[in-house]
Amino acid sequence: MGCMVDSTFIQALEHRPKVSIVEAGGIPLIDLSTLNSSNSNDAEALSGLIAEIGAACKDWGFFQVINHGVPLQLQERIESAARKFFALPLEEKCKVRRSEENPLGYYDTEHTKNVRDWKEVFDFTWEESTFIPASHEPQGQELKILNNHWPHHPPEMREACIEYAHGVEKLAYKLLELISLSLNLPADRLKGFFKGQTSFVRLNHYPPCPEPQLALGVGRHKDAGALTVLAQDDVGGLEVKRKADGEWVRVKPIPNSYIINVGDTIQVWSNDKYESVEHRVVVNSQKERLSIPFFLNPAYSVMVKPLEELLQEHDPPKYKEYNWGRFLKSRKDSNFKKLGVENVQIYHFRVAE
Ligand code: OGA
Ligand code: NI
Repeated sequence: MGCMVDSTFIQALEHRPKVSIVEAGGIPLIDLSTLNSSNSNDAEALSGLIAEIGAACKDWGFFQVINHGVPLQLQERIESAARKFFALPLEEKCKVRRSEENPLGYYDTEHTKNVRDWKEVFDFTWEESTFIPASHEPQGQELKILNNHWPHHPPEMREACIEYAHGVEKLAYKLLELISLSLNLPADRLKGFFKGQTSFVRLNHYPPCPEPQLALGVGRHKDAGALTVLAQDDVGGLEVKRKADGEWVRVKPIPNSYIINVGDTIQVWSNDKYESVEHRVVVNSQKERLSIPFFLNPAYSVMVKPLEELLQEHDPPKYKEYNWGRFLKSRKDSNFKKLGVENVQIYHFRVAE
């Protein structure tokens, strides 16, 4: 075909990015300053914010936040460390390479829906120990601990990563409370699912791509966990599938903001009141891009199912319960290598209507 990219990267025709970029009518922008100001007891401002977040979750599944209270310095430090790390020779990065056994560390051959992504990543957790099931099989009871693979270079990498995670974690839990309130649930209703969380942070590096019209940085997908808090640099490339018309909309980079999206787990808890929305990353031929998603995930043992308070006689559960740990393990295995089968999705647990 005379192509400059390997065939494993090439998207099917219908999934290739369009040349036109829709930026108008983008995802909602929400100002969180009420949360951090001295008049945070202002009940009216707070209920306005909760309503805004509820509408964004319902209509878009995505929103962008400013005045979020996470110190900018944390983001600057992790970005600088990440750029230094990804600039190392491949051989050096492969010293902390992810394996089938341990899904943390460096990785450059991730597949989304069996097509290779034009990116390299570094994954880490920051809890003392993160447990997941050793197998996704229902009868398997064995657990394993995830271990971080910290590189020697740059020397500040480990500290920058852990401090960043702690800073963004506070924002993630605050947003989870606001989302609970927006569903008319107590603020702490979801908190218990995260004791022993399997949350992790990913550093995504998208190198320039010689044929950006054929490949994607990340193929279209939905995030499996509860909530994603994403920082991106000023290059841009994230596209969200607009619920209103199915159009792919580019998310405009805003300095010192975070992009928030609802994952599959909140979709199931809310019994489809809030839907997890498809998104993808378009690469470009000129510039490299860096993004840092924080995936807020429940504990491995959590059985995910619609919350009883949200059900009614005319609104019965739309999903059968499933175990989060096995779901996650199954996803990790299928992203590790190209498989001939589709990976696990929440609709596999949908109750027939
Ligand atoms: C992801 C993702 C978006 C981005 O890693 O799941 O959707 O902008 N990343 O990098
Ligand atoms: Ni994603």
